[in-house]
Amino acid sequence: MSAYRRESPTLRYKDLANLRTGLAFDDVLLVPRYSKINSRRDADTSTRLTSNIALSIPIISANMDTVTEASMAVAIAREGGVGVIHRFMRLEEQVAQVQKVKRMESIVIETPYSLGVEAKLSDVRRLMREKNVGGILIVNDQGRLEGIITTRDIRFVTNPNASVSTLMTKRKDLVVGTWSKTTIEQAQDIMQDTRIEKLPLVDSKNRLRGLVTAKDILKRKEYPRATKDSKGRLRVGAAVGVKGDYLERAEKLAEADVDVLVLDIAHGHSQHAIDATKKIKKTLPETDLIAGNVATREGARDLINAGADSIKVGVGSGSICITRIVTGSGIPQLTAISDCSRIARDNGITLIADGGIRNSGDIAKSVVAGADTVMIGSLLAGTDESPGEIVFRGNQRYKVTRGMASMAARRDQLEKEGRLKPEGMREGEDVENHAEVDLSDYVPEGVEAIVPYKGGAVSVIRQLVGGLRSGMSYCGASNLKQMRANGKFIRITNVGIAESNPHDVITDI
Ligand code: XMP
Repeated sequence: MSAYRRESPTLRYKDLANLRTGLAFDDVLLVPRYSKINSRRDADTSTRLTSNIALSIPIISANMDTVTEASMAVAIAREGGVGVIHRFMRLEEQVAQVQKVKRMESIVIETPYSLGVEAKLSDVRRLMREKNVGGILIVNDQGRLEGIITTRDIRFVTNPNASVSTLMTKRKDLVVGTWSKTTIEQAQDIMQDTRIEKLPLVDSKNRLRGLVTAKDILKRKEYPRATKDSKGRLRVGAAVGVKGDYLERAEKLAEADVDVLVLDIAHGHSQHAIDATKKIKKTLPETDLIAGNVATREGARDLINAGADSIKVGVGSGSICITRIVTGSGIPQLTAISDCSRIARDNGITLIADGGIRNSGDIAKSVVAGADTVMIGSLLAGTDESPGEIVFRGNQRYKVTRGMASMAARRDQLEKEGRLKPEGMREGEDVENHAEVDLSDYVPEGVEAIVPYKGGAVSVIRQLVGGLRSGMSYCGASNLKQMRANGKFIRITNVGIAESNPHDVITDI
C-alpha cells in the first residue's frame, strides 16, 4: 500500500462545501437606526484598554518602529488613547522612551532633576539641554534642598565654571510646598500669588520630595481627556517579544512604571506566546498584559487561560502585512473580531482589533463586532509624531511605514544587533564576530511602503474620533457599549462597495 493511501481519510478530504465565510470591513455596513442623539458631541467614546485602564477614545497606536515612540505616545495619550512603544531598540532605550512619556506631565514630579551644590554652570546647561527642562533643583549630599536654578538665572552668564551656589535662588528665598500636605489646588494658588512657575515640595527635614510646575497644571486643563495614571502621569504601553531578553525587558519596563505590556508576536496562538504570557504574568502579576495576535476563539481562549488581561486580534489584516499571501493563513478581520469577542466578553477581558483600520467607519464596525479598542499603525505613520523623516516623491511629502516583519525592518534590526552577515562574506568566515544571520534566509511577512505626510497626529485622531461619533449616532448609541448592543450589520456586494465610495465624479482636483 502506498504511503498516500495509508493516510487517514480526514487528512485527504476537506469539506469545501460547508466552509464558513470570513468577512472583512468592506463586506458589511452598519444599518442606520433611529437616533435621539442631538449632537455628535453627546456621543461618549470612553472605553477600557484593560479592566484597569480607562480610555476616553478607543484608539491605541501600534508598536511599530515607524509609528510609536515617546512623541506619538504623548500625543495619543493626551487625546485619550494610549501609545505602545515598539521593542526594536535596546532595552535601556525602550525604558528611556517610557520614562520620557511618564515624565511629560504629572501632577507631582516625584524625582525632579537635581544637581549637587558643587555643580558648575556647564553641568546645569548640559542637564537642561539633555532633559529639555528649564529649572534644576540644587540639593546637598543629604538630599536637602539648597536652591533652584532656572534659565533666567543663567541667561547672561558666560563662565562655564561658575558655581551654581552663586547663581541659584537660595533656599531662604524660595517658596516651597509641603510634601504630602500641599494639594494641587493649594500649589496652584501659591504659584499664582507668588508668580512662580515651579514649586518644590519638601518634607519636615527640608529633603526634596517633589516638584509641581505651572506648566503641568496648565496641561491638565489643556488636555482634559488625557489618559493618566493615579499620579497624574500620562499612560504608556510597551511591547516585548517572546524570546531572548523579553522577561528582563518586561521587568525593567515595569520598574519604569509602564502601564501595560504588549506581547508582540505575529502568531499568538503558539506555545511560545502562551509560555511567555504565563511567565510575564507570574513575574509581574500587577502589570497588565495584552497578548496576541490571534484570530480565532481557540487562540483567544488559550491566551486568556494563560493569564492575558486583554487580547489583540488580527492576523494578516495590517496595511503592510503580507502574512496571508506568504503563508496562506489568516482570518478576515471583522470575522476574527467577532469570533474572539464572545470568549473575551465571557471572561471579562477586553479585545483590541489590530490592523487594517483605514477610516473611522472601520473603527465603528470593529466596535459593533465586539472590539473595545482598535490599534492603528500606518494611518498614524504619516504624522509629525511618528519616527522617521519626511521623504519627497516629486513635490509630494510622504513618510515611511513598514511591517515589523519586512525585509527592511529585519535588516535594520540585525544591523543594530551587529548580527547582519556582510554581503559577499563567504561561509565560515569570521563566524565568531558575527553570530550572523543571512538575510537571504529570511522570509518577510511585511512590506515597506510610504504614506502621505499628514502633519500632526492630533488632527488625524480627532477626525477618526469625530467620524466614530457620527457612526454612533447612526447606530442610535450614545456610548460604545450601546453601540455594540444596538449596532447591526448588513452584508453588501461589490456593487454596494462601489456605491459607498465617491463615484462618477473626479475627486483628484
Ligand atoms: P495597520 O493596518 O494599522 O496595521 O497599519 C498595523 C498592524 O499590522 C501588524 N503588523 C504586521 N503584520 N507583517 C504582518 O503580517 C508585518 O510585518 C507587520 N508589521 C506590523 C501589527 O499587528 C500592527 O499593529
